[in-house]
Amino acid sequence: MKIFLDTANLESIRMYNDMGLLDGITTNPTLLSKEGGDPHKTMKEIVSIINGDVSLEVVATEYDVMLEEGRRLHKYGDNVVVKYPMTADGLKACKALTAEGIPVNVTLVFSPNQAILAAKAGAKYLSPFIGRLDDIGEDGLHLIREIKQILSNYNFGTQILVASVRHPVHVVEAAKIGADVVTLPPSVLGKMLKHPLTDIGLKNFLADWKKLKTENPNIRI
Ligand code: G3P
Repeated sequence: MKIFLDTANLESIRMYNDMGLLDGITTNPTLLSKEGGDPHKTMKEIVSIINGDVSLEVVATEYDVMLEEGRRLHKYGDNVVVKYPMTADGLKACKALTAEGIPVNVTLVFSPNQAILAAKAGAKYLSPFIGRLDDIGEDGLHLIREIKQILSNYNFGTQILVASVRHPVHVVEAAKIGADVVTLPPSVLGKMLKHPLTDIGLKNFLADWKKLKTENPNIRI
């Protein structure tokens, strides 16, 4: 399973990229707005840091302008994937841009029917938002299971990009289902890294080494 970071925060992107954990990035207008500054500068910077797909989202809602925005965003780098919302115009733009050789991520997917249509329109990725479904009392992971089964039944090349991930259990469950990608807020990736027994174990190792060093002041690793 590929791991993308769901952020426009350059510091987090650099930190996790330096650990070799990132296969890509997803951004959206909300994430860019959180960082402030010039969004174009930020998007270009992300595209240059990451050696993998970077989803950049359009803000137009009409086909012609969506297409123009998509083409402009793709000029930021060959690794740009244009993010279109799951609307009729978005699907039309997805088909057209894909035919031009520019990959598309169809976002804001909340049902198996929407997933079928995104795949039919030729999307490279479709992004179901599981946390937002959980928020309204539905089961986001159940949607991932359904989409996985549907895509496996046919010859769609579309990858499932699990979005709106809220905690590490979402990640494990998505991996068990066989989702292609999870896109994680930096906070969730940080939680995946930590375990209290790791911290206790390391503390004990260091304390024992310190004891040994008191007896043999010149030892070192
Ligand atoms: O890529 C955006 C998606 O992950 C949204 O997450 O937490 O705003 O529902 P959230």
